[in-house]
Amino acid sequence: MSDLMVNQPSLLKPQIHIPPLFPQDSRGDMIRFGVIGYGYWGPNIVRNLHGQKNAQVLTVCDNSPSALARVRKAYPGIQTSSEPLEILRSTEIDAVAIITPVWTHYELAKMALENGKHVFVEKPFTSSSAQAEELVELAARKNLSIMVDHTFLFTGAVRKIRELTDSGVLGDLYYYDSLRVNLGLFQHDVSVIWDLAPHDLSIMDHLIKAEPEAIVATGEKHLNGVEDVAYMTLYFPRNVIAHINVNWLSPVKIRTTLIGGQKKMVVWNDLVSDEKVRVYDKGVQITSGEGIRDLLVSYRSGDMWAPQLEQVEALHVELEYFADCIIANKVPFNDGQAGLRVVRMLEAAEESIRKKGELVRL
Ligand SMILES: NC(=O)c1ccc[n+]([C@@H]2O[C@H](COP(=O)([O-])OP(=O)(O)OC[C@H]3O[C@@H](n4cnc5c(N)ncnc54)[C@H](O)[C@@H]3O)[C@@H](O)[C@H]2O)c1
Repeated sequence: MSDLMVNQPSLLKPQIHIPPLFPQDSRGDMIRFGVIGYGYWGPNIVRNLHGQKNAQVLTVCDNSPSALARVRKAYPGIQTSSEPLEILRSTEIDAVAIITPVWTHYELAKMALENGKHVFVEKPFTSSSAQAEELVELAARKNLSIMVDHTFLFTGAVRKIRELTDSGVLGDLYYYDSLRVNLGLFQHDVSVIWDLAPHDLSIMDHLIKAEPEAIVATGEKHLNGVEDVAYMTLYFPRNVIAHINVNWLSPVKIRTTLIGGQKKMVVWNDLVSDEKVRVYDKGVQITSGEGIRDLLVSYRSGDMWAPQLEQVEALHVELEYFADCIIANKVPFNDGQAGLRVVRMLEAAEESIRKKGELVRL
């Protein structure tokens, strides 16, 4: 039997009986998840998997007894375990969600893939691009799916901005400029770049649809040996430039992104409930005459409008999409390759910070 056939979810585990618990699922397909990690983010994953029409959580694993007690209290029907191997080797489980600290992702994801499981893994995908490349290759060889949780790609705001870029409303992109700052949450194992920048890097990857050619980054450590304040500049093809400011030492929380296009400009403030995304019909046009003194500058200052955004929880949409991709044997757009591109940018930023802001080419 070929690898492809072996790993078709419906063919792989003929011993799995799909119970008639979910009669609303017309395809009769139900992806059974094991979730590893129930700390800060894990409960959001379990809550959003629970109640999906095409997915079900069988077991949650965490090596903290208090985390498992929280699972049992919230979901008496879900099994708990302190041993990841119980999930990784279970013949009942089709997909594993890895919601543990970054340094554990590679080993857990590798074991999951080796045991024939599809993998949903938190951002950032891995601690190095070599690890990410190995996992991407392993998943391809076994015809298994990897989805990296770049949650923002599924928000109403990013979906709308992508629609505006794809349809040409913004025109050619000039820049992406993001301020993502707050006080904490301090991580012990990663810097603010590895913690917060994956959000912007994955959004840029999704909107600009090109990889940066070079990166400059600076940052500083003040408290616990990892950068807690950092600035990144990314040079993309076609003169698109991006800047990200990430900071765990800000007295206020700010999540504001400016996206400048030739025709329109966007201001996205993720912290407001109304008019998160505002589109400005503003711009500058320069026409040159004969000599440099004859530059004609005209400013356009038209309307501003705030498009309607979908209000569905991003993780709900994302996890439903992942289960759909597994069922239909489709590659998700936020796959291992997308996770690898983000890890490459993080590595380049780290190298530039080490060299005090030297340009690092990708
Ligand atoms: N997508 C997002 O917006 C988002 C938001 C927050 C965190 N995250 C990501 O989620 C991941 C987890 O972050 P967190 O803030 O929830 O961390 P956390 O430390 O709060 O929780 C991690 C949990 O995993 C458990 N754990 C660790 N290693 C384990 C192992 N080998 N086996 C079983 N259990 C293990 C710990 O006991 C803990 O309960 C990180 O990769 C982080 O970047 C993503």
